Amino acid sequence: MSFKINSYEDYKKQYQQSVENPEQFWSTIANTFSWRKKWDTVLKWNFDEPNIKWFVNGKLNITENCLDRHLATRGNQTAIVWEPNNPNDDTIKLTYHQLHQKVCEFANVLKNNGAKKGDRICLYMPMVPELAIAVLACARIGAIHSVVFAGFSAKALADRINDSACTLILCSDEAFRGAKTIPIKNVVDEALKNCPSISKNIVLKRTGAKVEMINNRDVWWHDEVKKVNSECVAEEMDSEDELFILYTSGSTGQPKGVVHTTGGYMVYTNYTFQNVFQYNTGDIFWCTADIGWITGHSYIIYGPLLAGATTVMFEGVPTWPDAGRFWEVVDKHQVNIFYTAPTAIRALMACDIDFVNKHQLSSLKVLGTVGEPINIEAWEWYHKNIGKTNCPIVDTWWQTETGGIMISSLAGITPSKPTFATLPLPGIQPCLVDAAGNEITENNVEGNLCIKFPWPSMLRTTYGDHNRCKQNYFSTYKGKYFTGDGCKRDENGMYRITGRVDDVINVSGHRIGTAEVENALDENHLVIESAVVGYPHDIKGQGIYAYVICAKEVNEQELRKELLEHITQHIGAFAKPDKIQLVSGLPKTRSGKIMRRILRKIAEGDTSNLGDTSTLLDPEIVKEIKNNAL
Ligand code: WTA
Repeated sequence: MSFKINSYEDYKKQYQQSVENPEQFWSTIANTFSWRKKWDTVLKWNFDEPNIKWFVNGKLNITENCLDRHLATRGNQTAIVWEPNNPNDDTIKLTYHQLHQKVCEFANVLKNNGAKKGDRICLYMPMVPELAIAVLACARIGAIHSVVFAGFSAKALADRINDSACTLILCSDEAFRGAKTIPIKNVVDEALKNCPSISKNIVLKRTGAKVEMINNRDVWWHDEVKKVNSECVAEEMDSEDELFILYTSGSTGQPKGVVHTTGGYMVYTNYTFQNVFQYNTGDIFWCTADIGWITGHSYIIYGPLLAGATTVMFEGVPTWPDAGRFWEVVDKHQVNIFYTAPTAIRALMACDIDFVNKHQLSSLKVLGTVGEPINIEAWEWYHKNIGKTNCPIVDTWWQTETGGIMISSLAGITPSKPTFATLPLPGIQPCLVDAAGNEITENNVEGNLCIKFPWPSMLRTTYGDHNRCKQNYFSTYKGKYFTGDGCKRDENGMYRITGRVDDVINVSGHRIGTAEVENALDENHLVIESAVVGYPHDIKGQGIYAYVICAKEVNEQELRKELLEHITQHIGAFAKPDKIQLVSGLPKTRSGKIMRRILRKIAEGDTSNLGDTSTLLDPEIVKEIKNNAL
C-alpha cells in the first residue's frame, strides 16, 4: 500500500478522510510498517490532562523499521552519505547492511556499559555518522536518547543531563566546525563535575586531540566496539514507550524536555517525509540541520531511513572553505531534495553569486525551508538561483513539540504561495483563535495558531513535569494545543506563520527563551536586572537585544565583553546578545511587571508610538531608554 499523495484532488480526499475518520486513516498508514504486535485501539486522547496515546498496545522497535525491514530489498543501497567538514577529506557511505551492522554493534557497546531499556542516554557529539549510529543504537535497546546540540555550554549541558538523570553520555574528543575545532570533551568534563547520575562517558576519536580520560568513567569508543559482536536483537517496545527527549526553550524558566514516543512518531515522520518532499525511490535527500535539533531527528535520521532513502549528513558549515560549500556538496552527491533554513539562505544571498553559479545544481528537484518565516527576498533568491525556477519550494512549519511537519505544501502537488506555509497535512486540524480565546472561523484573518485534534507525533509530556506540559500547551485555550505562534489565514485558507507571540525569539532558526538569557545575565555579578527582547535582523531573522541595569559604574566595552563571555559559558555562543544597552531602570508597571511591548518597540527602532505608558511606575525611564537606544 502506498500512502503517497499524488494530486491536489488526492490531497483533498486524504485530508477529508483524516478528519472524518482519523482512526481509520492513520491505521491504514500504520499498517504499512512492521509491528511485532498490532495495536488494540488506534487513538485514546484528551487534551485536558493531557493524555494522548496512539496505536495503543502495539509492539515494535523503530530500528527494525528503519533498518531490518529494508535489508532484503535494499541492503546494498546507501543509507547515509556523510560529507566531512573538510572537502579534502573522504566521504563515507554506509549501506543499509553496514548501518544495520554498526547500529547492532554499538547497541551491544551500550549494553556492555550498563545501559538498559528506559535509561536516558545523553549524546553531545559532532555531525559524524557515529551520532546517527548511536541514536539508532539507543532506540535498538529501548534506551531514551537525549541529544544535546554541541554548541551548548557545559552548564546548559549539565542542566539537561540532570533534568532527566541520564546515566550515560556519548561525546567526542573535539569537533571540526569550519576553520575551528570545538573542545567537546573538555565541555563534557566540565559539565560532569555536576552530574552525579552519569556513570560512563564513551568518547569517540574525531580530531585526535589529546584529552584526559578519567578512570572508571571515560572509555574510548573504538576500544569498546572491539569487545562486542554485531548481533543485537531489537528490544520490543510499546507504541507509547518513550523514544527520545529533546530540550527546547519556552517562554519561562529552564528549557523543557519534550518527550516523543515510538509508534506515532514513526508513522508520522515517515508519512510527512514521503509526502511533503514527494520522495521517490532512489532520491538523494539532504537536510542541512544539526541532529541536535528536531529537524535533524525527524528528517536526517528517522523520516528518511524509515522510507529507505539515502540521507546526506554534513559535518561542516555553509560558508567554509567558502560560501559555495552547500552547492558543491549538492553537485558532488547529486542531491535531489534539499532542505535548509531561511537564515542560511539569507547568509548565502549576501555572498557573491559566483559561489552559486560555479555549480550545476541540475540534480535538484525539490527545495525546502524550515525553522522561521522566510522573507520574500530570500524565497525568490532560492527559487531563482538554487531551484533555477523549476523546483517547487516547500515552506514547512512545525515545532520540536509537533515531531513532524504540520503545515506545508506538498512539492509540486498542492498549490504554493511564497512566504506561506500554505495548507495543513492530512490529519492536522489547525485553527486560529482571537485574544479572548474564541476560534475565528472566517478567512482573511489573523490569530494565534492552535491545533484542535491529536496527531501521531505530538509531544506526550515534558520530562519529569507533566503539569508543565499541560500549563504550557493545553491551558491557554481549553481543549486545544497552543503553538505559541501567530498566524494569518488568507482568503483561500492558506496559512502564513508570522512568528512567536510568546517570549521566545527565533535567532537563525534557534529557539531561545528571553527568560533563559535574562536569568543567565542576572547571574553575572555586574548585573542587577536585565530584560531581553528580539528585534528584526537581516540575516538571523531575529537578533537579541538586552537591556541591562548595572551594579556599579562600569566601562561599557568591558561590560559587553564580560556579558558575551558569560552567555557563552551559561548557554552557548549562539545565544549571545547582538546589542546590549545599559539602562538605569526598566519600564515596569506598578505591579512590577516589565512592559516588554515598549522594549520591543524601542529595539525595533519604532518609537513613534509607544502606546499607553501611563500605568508605568516611572514613565521617565522610557525617555532615557529611547534616547540611548542602539
Ligand atoms: C518557527 C523547528 C515560520 C515557529 C522545526 C515555531 C517557523 C518554531 C517555520 C519551532 C516556518 C518553524 N515558518 N516559522 N516554516 N518553521 N518556525 O521547535 O515559530 O526549533 O514555533 O522546531 O520555529 O522551532 P523548533
